[in-house]
Amino acid sequence: MARKKQIQNIAIVGTGVIGASWAALYLARGLNVIATDPAPNAEANLRRFIDAAWKDLQVIGLSPNASREHLQFTADMKKALSNADLVQENGPERQDFKIKLFADMDAATPEDTIIASSSSGLTMSVMQSACKHPERCVTGHPFNPPHVVPLVEVVAGAKTSAETVEQVIAFYESIGKKPIRVRKEVVGHVANRLQAALYREIVYLIDQGVIDVADGDTAVCWGPGLRWGVMGPSLLFHMGGGQGGMQHFLEQFTGPLAAWWKDLGKITEFSTEVRQRLLEGVLKEAGNRSIEELERERDSMLLELLTTRSKAEKAVHSGADAAAD
Ligand SMILES: NC(=O)c1ccc[n+]([C@@H]2O[C@H](COP(=O)([O-])OP(=O)(O)OC[C@H]3O[C@@H](n4cnc5c(N)ncnc54)[C@H](O)[C@@H]3O)[C@@H](O)[C@H]2O)c1
Repeated sequence: MARKKQIQNIAIVGTGVIGASWAALYLARGLNVIATDPAPNAEANLRRFIDAAWKDLQVIGLSPNASREHLQFTADMKKALSNADLVQENGPERQDFKIKLFADMDAATPEDTIIASSSSGLTMSVMQSACKHPERCVTGHPFNPPHVVPLVEVVAGAKTSAETVEQVIAFYESIGKKPIRVRKEVVGHVANRLQAALYREIVYLIDQGVIDVADGDTAVCWGPGLRWGVMGPSLLFHMGGGQGGMQHFLEQFTGPLAAWWKDLGKITEFSTEVRQRLLEGVLKEAGNRSIEELERERDSMLLELLTTRSKAEKAVHSGADAAAD
């Protein structure tokens, strides 16, 4: 099915934690949003969330035509979907529920409209299984909160068309997201698997008495984490090889790395003891800061980092362009 070229009208299905954040982002990018959610007070909660998020989005930068007045809300899902160019689904994470929701959305949405799911854990092959037009259904999994964090993981289901994947990636890029194409369906997509792999080792080291909770956080935050916000681990290792780059890195460090892999913790569950250590350690690290204070701290630093990073990126690239002229 040939698709509409322009995506201007977004339908948000489910306006909880993730749906509300997507709605705020789409409005900030100058798009029209029509949201639907059957929960009592859903509209008031959504508008409250968007008002609070708008301050952050002003710091990140609003697109021309960005306006909170371009938000409509209806409890009637069919109405919300009838004129959508793209649907972003954020309903409860239950398999049977999502299969039925996708069948209902599929029936209520124009055939040339992409339906993207934010699901963290369910595969699109399963969610699209009862749809008449499954080729336009795709996973577009954000990293919380989507109005701040750019990553979105795009994953096709067995019946998703290549055209849908291309178009949704192009759309996410056009609004400043950083989409990646996940080429096979795997449990937890990619970013959550990466978090799980690293956290497994942190928990193992805490369990073994090698580090305490705060040192685990410091080791990530002030070492590799700082670099990972700028470049990914593979590109960083290219520099780890000095002038010989990745070639030299592979020659010199793959032996030790593989030896470390063999020694990494292989724990598969959180023991009662380790849970207790994690809880005590985090409470000690948080000190007298409430969750709200910590959230404000995290978000204000994230916004500063993002704006500084994008300015620095532009400066680096304009310097490189000038050098090439
Ligand atoms: N919370 C996260 O950190 C996170 C991160 C990335 C992706 N996700 C994914 O996003 C999705 C939503 O998660 P969440 O954390 O926002 O959950 P949530 O519980 O905060 O929100 C779910 C919303 O769906 C609404 N809903 C229920 N039935 C509905 C229906 N028939 N039609 C429309 N809306 C309906 C609920 O009223 C609720 O507001 C899940 O698939 C989850 O895996 C969550």
